[in-house]
Amino acid sequence: MFLSKFIDELPIPPVLKPRRKDHLYTYYKVKMTQFKQSIHSELPDTTVWGYEGSYPGPTFEVESGERVYIKWSNNLPPTHLLPIDHTVHGAHTDVPDVRTVVHVHGASVESDSDGYPEAWFTKGFEQVGPYFRKKVYQYDNNMRACTLWYHDHTLGITRLNVYAGLAGFYLIRNHRERLLNLPNGKYEIPLIIQDKTFNKDGSLYYPTQPRKPVPELETSIVPTFIGDTILVNGKVWPYLNVEPRKYRFRLLNGSNSRFYNIKLDSGQLIYQIGTDGGLMEYPIGVREIMLSPAERADVIIDFTNLEGKNVIMINDAPTPFPSGVPVDENTSIVMQFKVTLPLSCIDTSAIPANLVSLPKINEQAASKKRYLYFNMNTDKFGRPLMLLENKHWDDPITENPKLGATEIWYLINASPDSHPMHLHLIHFQIIDRRDFDVEKFNKEGIIQYTGPSIPPEAQERGWKDTVRANPYQVTRIIMKFGPYIGLYVWHCHVLEHEDYEMMRPYIVIK
Ligand code: C2O
Ligand code: CU
Repeated sequence: MFLSKFIDELPIPPVLKPRRKDHLYTYYKVKMTQFKQSIHSELPDTTVWGYEGSYPGPTFEVESGERVYIKWSNNLPPTHLLPIDHTVHGAHTDVPDVRTVVHVHGASVESDSDGYPEAWFTKGFEQVGPYFRKKVYQYDNNMRACTLWYHDHTLGITRLNVYAGLAGFYLIRNHRERLLNLPNGKYEIPLIIQDKTFNKDGSLYYPTQPRKPVPELETSIVPTFIGDTILVNGKVWPYLNVEPRKYRFRLLNGSNSRFYNIKLDSGQLIYQIGTDGGLMEYPIGVREIMLSPAERADVIIDFTNLEGKNVIMINDAPTPFPSGVPVDENTSIVMQFKVTLPLSCIDTSAIPANLVSLPKINEQAASKKRYLYFNMNTDKFGRPLMLLENKHWDDPITENPKLGATEIWYLINASPDSHPMHLHLIHFQIIDRRDFDVEKFNKEGIIQYTGPSIPPEAQERGWKDTVRANPYQVTRIIMKFGPYIGLYVWHCHVLEHEDYEMMRPYIVIK
């Protein structure tokens, strides 16, 4: 379907107002509902799901250390918007179709408030999953200033719930960051980038079958979702009027499967100042930024001296990455900046030479190394089934770090695709990546490196919660587990993989 580009203005999700806020705590109530929203002015309104009547959901703005309680509730209709595959774990016909649970991605949260995939609940909490513990979640926000996001995490239907619209920003700020004098206020804008496909009537399209259909099933999960349309903040190919000055953008890849390699058609530098888990040590000027699903980049773009010019944000990453479907004349376009607004006052914001101190976690501090491999299996319908450690979601827990322990995880990817691996609860640092002999590994289970240790890219040198585990490489990450104990998950953030068993529980023990 043809939709014109750059005819709708970029929406900025509203900042959510708390129901109550005092020096002890802040309380929010957030309802999930179904409603209609204009996604593009040439398209009839689209039925979506959202939080507080907004897709993307409203933005949370909290302070480091602020205690926040959120009552997430489900007020969605009883029928799902999108086709459910009832053969997928957790989505069998013994549970209601419309289930939700919310995870704040990247947050350090007690286990019972983390949005465990089986802690789902239905409308009015009438039915709840086996791990449901409480209606009001608690977030301590004992974290650095950073760009987090919240989204649905229900076992077996996360890809559908997020695709329907259940995602939004959760920003943590603090005094230190304010002292840096970064562009702020109306010059600081979050951008959630997603791909979708629409039917002529404006409704969301999600495939009922993979390219090689499964005749036994009415609906089958697909191994990758590739949309033909790019949305930013819920609008298709929007534009943003900007002043000739610096802006701060929080880039988030909120897509199901699509990777983005972000560039500006002007060829100008993008100044990256932060990663998933907060500010970097110092800004870096880059011409491209790779974002796999769930990765964030905090950036400054300078439109100074560009009066009257248009700058287009473009993308050239194939999906699956790196050797999947290349972008076309549509999916290579993200959005447009029009430098049309007069400068309303002198731009006194800064790109400071130094941002924060970022001590490297010492490899010697690690008390445990875990070797974790991913491989491709086939299910009884002949479909690809990506597993971690060859284990299913329901198999006994094998990753059980001790509270306070530092560990190194070797993510061994013997598959041809890059998988964005995400751990809940903690932020990690990337140590390196290294090619290995895949054949030898598959036969003998031995890692034999065939290349040198490759340090993380400049754009990854900071706190991360999602890392691209590239094909035929061992990616090493290091992290300290805590400050909470209990049940969490680690998984691939390609939502079609996560839903089809590329996810495992892990437990932090005393
Ligand atoms: Cu963004 Cu386990 O999720
Ligand atoms: Cu994956």
